[in-house]
Amino acid sequence: MTAETFYVTTPIYYVNDKPHLGHVYTTIVADVVARHHRLKGDDTFFLTGVDEHAAKVSDRAAEQGLSAQQWADQNAAAFSDVFERLEMTNDDFVRTSSHRHKDNVTAYVRTLLDSGDVYAGQYEGWYDAGQEEYVPENKAAGNGYKSEVTGKPLVRKKEKNYFFKLTAYRDELLTLLERHEVVNGCRFDVQPTARRNEIINRIKEAEDVPISRTGAGGWGIPVPGDAEQTIYVWIDALFNYLTYVDTDDRRKYWQAGAVHFIAKDILWFHAAIWPALILALRKCPGFDAWHEGEPLALPKLVYSHSYWVSETGEKMSKSLGNFLDPQAIDNYVNVFGLDALRYFLATRGPLGVSDSAFSEDLFVDVYNSDLANTFGNSCSRVTKMIGKYLGGKIPDLTTEDTAKWSGFVEQLHLRYEASFATLELSDAAGEGRTLIRQVDSHIDETAPFKLAKDESKLPEVATILLTCAEALRIASVLLWPFIPDACEVFWSRIGCGHYTRALAAGGSGDLAQWVKWGQLQPGTAIEIGEALFPRYQPK
Ligand code: MSP
Repeated sequence: MTAETFYVTTPIYYVNDKPHLGHVYTTIVADVVARHHRLKGDDTFFLTGVDEHAAKVSDRAAEQGLSAQQWADQNAAAFSDVFERLEMTNDDFVRTSSHRHKDNVTAYVRTLLDSGDVYAGQYEGWYDAGQEEYVPENKAAGNGYKSEVTGKPLVRKKEKNYFFKLTAYRDELLTLLERHEVVNGCRFDVQPTARRNEIINRIKEAEDVPISRTGAGGWGIPVPGDAEQTIYVWIDALFNYLTYVDTDDRRKYWQAGAVHFIAKDILWFHAAIWPALILALRKCPGFDAWHEGEPLALPKLVYSHSYWVSETGEKMSKSLGNFLDPQAIDNYVNVFGLDALRYFLATRGPLGVSDSAFSEDLFVDVYNSDLANTFGNSCSRVTKMIGKYLGGKIPDLTTEDTAKWSGFVEQLHLRYEASFATLELSDAAGEGRTLIRQVDSHIDETAPFKLAKDESKLPEVATILLTCAEALRIASVLLWPFIPDACEVFWSRIGCGHYTRALAAGGSGDLAQWVKWGQLQPGTAIEIGEALFPRYQPK
């Protein structure tokens, strides 16, 4: 299989406050997917970062007696620190106050002013200040003129604004979404399907959208040619996906078709306004032959997940104050390890259309059942027996007919790929667990610990344990995107440290090769080491 070029993003998070579990969640999901692509050998680019030019950022700054930039600097650092501590493998970190972002946004908006897709007008209507979002009359009325997300009253606004001609792209967008296949060289999709249908209905009623505001007090990017007006924070923010890859060496990532992970709160911007802005740009001079003679591509997919909610069912958020903050996240990492947090969030989180309740009890259950009792236990059982019965070395190839196991693994690998392709991360991880359970059953059925009492049976013991070690090696390759640290420790114990070296610092792996049966080197000394996931006893 030839390597692909792959581009994955998270929302850029507001820096009005510190990061919380919701931000960490989307970033971990994107990280798992990015790692999966690197594991396959794809040329992968993973982008996350922060959204600085919101009014709530300058408001919060003023409350603290700081300039907006000072407050944004502090919180941007808090986000990048958390992501670093969580070993996120993002290739860059967006700051919308950076020059490269601002200069590119200015150029894009100028292009749209020139083409007539951005024009001056007057806005009168409702505004959700907490969400920094203009709300159409019917939606505002439907929610009793309160914010759908925060529940706070909407604000009535009347001001001169620049508008984006969304209506000019409505039909094209609808065709793309309804067909979700290549139409006139473009392809764009929204998942899950229920979200796609929701957005199709809303686009049918779409009107032109305001893309500037007044009175931003110098915090933001001015509309080119009109210093009174600031580019609306949402337009500024959406462009991050493009500004950070608008360089000679990165344009290929954009052209490969971005995969944007977001939550359902910001679906409208990503599934309607964003692709329409790209459709508008791609016909403008410079963008019609943007990279290697090809016009600017559309994103490939907007994947809109649901929410982590508290045990009582409320959305976890900063404004509700019920979120897990960096300290609480660190506590989980200190007790269970970073892999456990990644694994729990990625496999039990709200991908799809249902919310997930976060609870410590569930976390402990999943940790013990999927990690301690499955991967951790199986690895220590097998390496210990190799130590005890085979002198701690991978045995020479034995008499076993491996067709059954290699066939089983091939099928499993195909299902694993299919699950990643549809972003069913829990199912993908489940394939790794299936293989480990197969190892456990094999040990239970063949009982190598009993056979080992009879010296003449040692070749048979060697065969069984080699089979188990091979299967665990492959399971660890499949599980690496989820629990990279434990897998890397295991690899170093079984003589596969070269996998870690290949994948270090954004490097690429060779999944197709690594999942082939029969890669362990006979004679390799096995290290037993400590439990990868010690069982947790709740106090
Ligand atoms: N700045 C905008 C996004 C601009 S993207 C061009 C924004 N920022 S935010 O800080 O409010 O982050 C929203 C995102 O954080 C959600 O879309 C989601 O990815 C994540 N989450 C925030 N709370 C969450 C939960 N309770 N559960 C799951 N994800 C959550 O909107």
